[in-house]
Amino acid sequence: MTMQSNATDHRESQNMDEEGKMKVEDVKSVGIVGCGTMGPTIAVATAMKYDTVVREISDELAEKGKNKIAKFISKLADKGKLSEEEHDACVGRVKVVVELEKLKDCQVIIDATPDKLEIKSEVLSALHEICPWNTVFTTTSSLLSITALAAASGRPDKFIGTHFSIPAHLMKLVEVAKAIQTSEETKTFMFDFLKSLDKTPIETKDNPGLLVNWLLFPYLSAALKAYSLGLGTPEAIDTAAKLGLGFPIGPFQLMDFSGLDSCVEAFNALYEQTRDPAYTYPPILQKMVEAGYLGTKTGKGFHDYK
Ligand SMILES: NC(=O)c1ccc[n+]([C@@H]2O[C@H](COP(=O)([O-])OP(=O)(O)OC[C@H]3O[C@@H](n4cnc5c(N)ncnc54)[C@H](O)[C@@H]3O)[C@@H](O)[C@H]2O)c1
Repeated sequence: MTMQSNATDHRESQNMDEEGKMKVEDVKSVGIVGCGTMGPTIAVATAMKYDTVVREISDELAEKGKNKIAKFISKLADKGKLSEEEHDACVGRVKVVVELEKLKDCQVIIDATPDKLEIKSEVLSALHEICPWNTVFTTTSSLLSITALAAASGRPDKFIGTHFSIPAHLMKLVEVAKAIQTSEETKTFMFDFLKSLDKTPIETKDNPGLLVNWLLFPYLSAALKAYSLGLGTPEAIDTAAKLGLGFPIGPFQLMDFSGLDSCVEAFNALYEQTRDPAYTYPPILQKMVEAGYLGTKTGKGFHDYK
């Protein structure tokens, strides 16, 4: 049996409406690809409601990812946001795997792999071969072209951008961006799916940074420039943003949590696509990365976490 005929077999066995379009009631399992910084937080958000299968590329990374997910779920329980029963159910719904084939029965796939077109294209086209033809594919990237990823996915009309805000299990907002090829049905399905996760989806355009990062990165750039000019320490600038601007966390805390290496990549990707000086940053950010100070994930960034 060829991979392609697998997809056709699935078409016959799936619970679909008369035209075969995916409906939110059909969703039983969600597949997440990548369990680094963003993947675990999305996994917790989806595991509140659906079986969730997360794929990493090695046993070691899968184990790390599994521990992160368990920690986030425990924190929700500690804060009283989940009962003991809900905590156990949520933990029980998540599997972290290395075999891509284990995502074959998912109705929604969320890509959370690094922002490299080759990596995402390869994994999406491999998933296209093994998933049912009507599984909806999505990426949480705001940096790569949704249209280019839709083209690489093998199912362009069923591909859409869903940029979760970090950490996805706590933040309500998800930006939804259609590729040029995305069907209206896919968009409607995605809005229903995100609402089923108790998220607040907003529609935006396939544009570098989408909407949130289009607003955010010029602000992070200003914070880094303020630090480089000696206008304040990271602590002082964070305090200014929180107490002076009413933001819940400061720009340096946000960059530390996102990963300073990811921030460099994001700035570079946005600048390369727009040539807008609003997306430039002073050398200190690159130097922090060179020093291995990547933020919370290494225990040190602009702040200390040890
Ligand atoms: N970090 C953020 O603040 C943030 C916020 C919103 C969206 N995003 C988006 O989420 C995506 C992931 O970003 P991140 O910061 O989590 O990156 P990351 O580097 O922290 O994690 C990516 C993970 O994907 C894994 N991976 C690589 N190839 C894979 C494959 N073929 N199959 C499965 N796993 C694979 C890597 O081992 C790594 O653990 C990016 O598209 C990024 O733009 C990130």
